[in-house]
Amino acid sequence: MTAGTDVVTDWLAPTDEQRLATVATGLFADRFTGRPDGVWFAPGRVNLIGEHIDYVGGRVLPFALPHGTAVAVRLRDDDVIRCVSTATERAWTGTIGDVGPGDPRGWAAYPAGVLWALRYHDTIAHVPGMDIAVHSGVPRGSGLSSSAALECALALAVAEMLGAPTDDHGRSLLARDCVAAENIVVGAQTGGMDQSAALRARAGHALLLDCTDFTVEHIPLDFTAAGLELLVINTNAPHRLADGEYGRRRASVERISKRIGPQLLRDEPDVDAILRTIAATQPVAVPRMRHVLTEIRRVDTVVAKLRAGAVADIGEDLNRSGESLRIDYEVSCPELDNAVTAALDAGALGARMTGGGFGGSAIALITAGSSDAVSQAITRAARDRDLPAPQFLAGVPSRAAHRLT
Ligand code: GLA
Repeated sequence: MTAGTDVVTDWLAPTDEQRLATVATGLFADRFTGRPDGVWFAPGRVNLIGEHIDYVGGRVLPFALPHGTAVAVRLRDDDVIRCVSTATERAWTGTIGDVGPGDPRGWAAYPAGVLWALRYHDTIAHVPGMDIAVHSGVPRGSGLSSSAALECALALAVAEMLGAPTDDHGRSLLARDCVAAENIVVGAQTGGMDQSAALRARAGHALLLDCTDFTVEHIPLDFTAAGLELLVINTNAPHRLADGEYGRRRASVERISKRIGPQLLRDEPDVDAILRTIAATQPVAVPRMRHVLTEIRRVDTVVAKLRAGAVADIGEDLNRSGESLRIDYEVSCPELDNAVTAALDAGALGARMTGGGFGGSAIALITAGSSDAVSQAITRAARDRDLPAPQFLAGVPSRAAHRLT
């Protein structure tokens, strides 16, 4: 908490990984007795740019946060799976045979779904029973991929314990399995960005992920060296991806994008010409496709600026992305709009919603040392409109999933 002249801002410190491991191990001992075989960690993420284009084969540019989730895991001799979490009283016990599309319901669908998907894709030929205790430092519903952090920490744990490859290619397969858990078992039609960030990001870099073939490049990203900070604003507006709006957006652009083909979708300089063709047969799809086509090109612009060391110049691209998501893709909400406007009014070089939208988080590129003033302005603006008090995080590009103990 930082006391301002008349407002108090709420800051979430980077996750203390050792403390996270201690709490997960404590929960494990309490609920299962004994010690886990190990504790694994995976981070949440923010997406710098490239929003709602992972599922049409665009390039996206997320980075891992220093905030993440720990899982304490112990293999069992039988096929029983037990999952507990510090976030809920609701535990889950079952076997792989109980897991499938839509089962189980609730939070356990994420860990149970990962085990199911590892088996489904034959990443792990035989998935034994195991006890799993979860403790997270990523606020749930914040749009910072707490669910991907949980999935990826567990996938890495199982892969390391059972000898599946965990080099970058191995991690790309684990990411694929975590996406399958979410798409098939949880029933959320999300793309592949979050899990790739959690498993494949590098500290000090953004992850340029090509979603046609899931190849990656690591783009150096050092806000501090550029005299900047990336402020992450969790609006605390309730955020739900599985409730249909995300799936509807995805369905509205997926078929058309396939018809256009990756070449035109990504490389055609004349976006208006493509839009005119779409307008001839499906005029209602034009705004949604305008977002997709322009966002794909904004990612290229931002990557070029980052490569040239012009970090401060990406502010205008963040703004355009945010406007496109708000007006053409219609995935923003009053809490996000309010945070973005307040950040820009307080001097941010650029700001936009990040992640799936409909709540969740925004990002603001600000000059170093201005985070107190900007966060206070955003908090004040939320209070003035009776919106939930936001929470702030420092967006520092951090490590991918790894073993803690
Ligand atoms: C969510 C999904 C991602 C991606 C973003 C929007 O975070 O999980 O796959 O589609 O929304 O960019």
